[in-house]
Amino acid sequence: MDTFLAIASRRDERRYRADPLPEDVVTRILDAGRLSGSASNRQPWTFVLPESRARVEALAPAVYAPDNVLGAGLVVAVVLAGKGKASFDAGRAAQNMLLAAWNEGISSCPNGIADRDAAHAALDLAEDEAPVIVLTFGIPERRRDASSRPPEEWSSRANRRPLADVVRRVG
Ligand SMILES: Cc1cc2nc3c(=O)[nH]c(=O)nc-3n(C[C@H](O)[C@H](O)[C@H](O)COP(=O)(O)O)c2cc1C
Repeated sequence: MDTFLAIASRRDERRYRADPLPEDVVTRILDAGRLSGSASNRQPWTFVLPESRARVEALAPAVYAPDNVLGAGLVVAVVLAGKGKASFDAGRAAQNMLLAAWNEGISSCPNGIADRDAAHAALDLAEDEAPVIVLTFGIPERRRDASSRPPEEWSSRANRRPLADVVRRVG
């Protein structure tokens, strides 16, 4: 998929089919995160995958939208260690994974964490680790075909502030 078409057509989707994702797609998504740039190339992240049903059920109440985690084909927590403020790096890794998934026709949604201690315990993290965001992925319940519209049309339909509002030129 063309990169701009992927960016313009992607939406956060919260309802998935029950099926797990093919293993090669999971690897592709995780590799997209691994390949992300980071300050001084520190790669401060770990991608933690709760895999047993018990662990997914322990994590779900810790996010704002538990049903999204419970119904996902793949759950990836982006975790940072140490004191550094690397949330920008974590954001880059997260967005790479979301876009790589969409390139494979897989929908996804970031989940904010409501209860950090519960998420920390559910993910079996070390003391100096902290979860930043919980990403869910799944085969979409309603398929959307990115190529059904040109990127400009996806862009103009997007529920976003207009470009003139978000860009300020300081000549
Ligand atoms: C940091 C962050 C946290 C988010 N947390 C949640 C969440 O807890 N639950 C949820 O349903 N969506 C969550 N979202 C998704 C946003 O609601 C979504 O990005 C926004 O509504 C745009 O959606 P769209 O791409 O479908 O237009 C989160 C997004 C970000 C960037």
